[in-house]
Amino acid sequence: MTLPKPGFIPTARIIVEDTVEPPAISADVARSISRHRMFQPTDSEAALRPWFQTLADLPAPPIDWQQFFGNAHPVELEVGSGRGLFLMNAGLTQPERNFVGIECDFKEGKRAAERLRKRKMPNARMLGADGKLVLAEYVVPGSLAGVHIYFPDPWWKRRHHRRRLFTNAFLDQVARVLEPGGLLHAWTDVAEYFEMMVKLLGTRTDFERLPDPPEKAPTSDLDYRTSFERKKRRAGLKINRGLWRRTGESIVSAT
Ligand SMILES: C[S@@+](CC[C@H](N)C(=O)[O-])C[C@H]1O[C@@H](n2cnc3c(N)ncnc32)[C@H](O)[C@@H]1O
Repeated sequence: MTLPKPGFIPTARIIVEDTVEPPAISADVARSISRHRMFQPTDSEAALRPWFQTLADLPAPPIDWQQFFGNAHPVELEVGSGRGLFLMNAGLTQPERNFVGIECDFKEGKRAAERLRKRKMPNARMLGADGKLVLAEYVVPGSLAGVHIYFPDPWWKRRHHRRRLFTNAFLDQVARVLEPGGLLHAWTDVAEYFEMMVKLLGTRTDFERLPDPPEKAPTSDLDYRTSFERKKRRAGLKINRGLWRRTGESIVSAT
């Protein structure tokens, strides 16, 4: 702050600027929390806790992962988990890692959570929320070992492309929350969307592309990365599987 000249009488405005604490949460978060608080959980929703939670269930941001999971294992986050097949399989096969899924469609998020609840999984949780908001306001910089985006909504029409999840601004947030060496997994059957992802990431020095993960022959109905992968492969569509590593470079800001 610039120091006042000698003899300067401070105005109320300056006093206010100096004494008012910045709000702990943004207006977006406050709106989101109060929307969720309007709904009392039904008995079945309450039974889904802690596997399904909303922002109203969490302490003030940011999330302390150690407190959230009760251990200091690495944490990976998925945006748009749908029915939670990835979270379930990843959590079961990698018990030494924690997985959190964000889903803005609560009905889907609760279906995903039901899978985790049935198996009493200690290392996988669903959050009913907007993934963009969670990344921007709830996640401590450098606190994630992985970010997963599988089959994001394509928003086919050109005039709707701006609604797509994958933008440079979104990648700024992903770069902020990933630790150096952390991985970004992004898969889609939409070739043009994948090209756009590759192009966007190719312009950035804070990510480097790794070899695409190979396709695996499934051993059962549940042996797919996600429900959408199963659906699209059964329809004979080509799946584009991308993998990038967060470099140690500083974040490339969105233009
Ligand atoms: C096409 S579905 C894919 C679901 C799942 N990933 C799969 O592969 O089976 C995309 C999902 O992303 C969710 N979604 C879209 N935007 C989101 C956002 N900003 N935050 C959280 N979820 C989001 C949608 O509600 C939807 O369930």
